Amino acid sequence: MASIKNTAKTFKLNTGASIPAIGLGTWQSQPGEVGKAVEAALKAGYRHIDTAFAYGNEKEVGEGIRASGVPREEIFLTTKLNNPDHKRVAEAIDQSLKNLGTSYVDLYLMHWPSSTDPNDSKKHYPDWDFVDTWRELQKLVGTDKVRAIGVSNFAIKNLERLLNDPSSKVVPAVNQIELHPGNPSPKLVAYNTSKGIHSSGYSPLGSTDSPLSNNATLEKIAKAKGKPPAQVLLLWGIQKGWSVLPKSVTPSRIDANFDLDGWSLTDEEISKIDAIPDRFKVCGDSWLPIKVFFGDDE
Ligand SMILES: NC(=O)c1ccc[n+]([C@@H]2O[C@H](COP(=O)([O-])OP(=O)(O)OC[C@H]3O[C@@H](n4cnc5c(N)ncnc54)[C@H](OP(=O)(O)O)[C@@H]3O)[C@@H](O)[C@H]2O)c1
Repeated sequence: MASIKNTAKTFKLNTGASIPAIGLGTWQSQPGEVGKAVEAALKAGYRHIDTAFAYGNEKEVGEGIRASGVPREEIFLTTKLNNPDHKRVAEAIDQSLKNLGTSYVDLYLMHWPSSTDPNDSKKHYPDWDFVDTWRELQKLVGTDKVRAIGVSNFAIKNLERLLNDPSSKVVPAVNQIELHPGNPSPKLVAYNTSKGIHSSGYSPLGSTDSPLSNNATLEKIAKAKGKPPAQVLLLWGIQKGWSVLPKSVTPSRIDANFDLDGWSLTDEEISKIDAIPDRFKVCGDSWLPIKVFFGDDE
């Protein structure tokens, strides 16, 4: 058991690159905190950082990376195209790279399949959607600005449209989606896998004020393992085959979320977590001008 190195685990992408199984999330990580969190995570051994233009913290994330002293090429860095930038992909990636203070990202994701009018967040462009955006993102492949492109918050219905469009030549490397026992999405994960798309799990702990924080099944398994419930949740995701992106700005939690070596969950424990019945979603689509979830992930 001591030889199990979950923190060194990676998953192969369809580009041939490897994505580390554990990445630090940065959504809602505040100014003055996020840079320190990134620095602490990298010093603790994390080699994967997830940010987005929409989080408003790319600049400080970049500062945290540099403060850590970890060479850029050892880090898997993801950022995301903002919804109002779908018609200006070339400018948006340049802006994100400038913010981050790096010449490339390892993964550039379309954050949501919603081409939102920049002048009115309640309006979707009538003449442009995610297929058009993907056409523009594909132009970045082969440049020195991105190592891979992918999507986020894509349901099966939208992935099918994307993959079946004649203009789509590149299969997304990743679909970053909400994955925790309250939103396990087995059909969507299986669909991603069947198309060679890696699933990356966001809100793996159930996000802020998580409904999973006092779940009896998790508490029982955690107690039996002598580990905190958060670690059980992260290993559950990794052992099910997706990368996990726990967010924290608390140094002790950043360390704890990376303290995953030397043990694993049994098949029975994984089945018990799979069977947790309560469903909840952290990120819905009611704030977007269009619907992007269709209940096709159950
Ligand atoms: N693509 C998308 O649309 C999308 C959407 C949502 C999230 N994401 C990505 O996924 C990342 C993670 O998701 P998330 O931020 O929603 O939620 P999460 O990682 O599931 O949970 C974060 C919450 O859990 C707390 N926490 C962290 N470690 C803990 C521990 N060991 N014990 C107890 N509590 C702990 C954090 O508090 P403290 O920070 O105060 O320690 C924070 O309140 C995001 O940060 C972002 O990078 C992407």
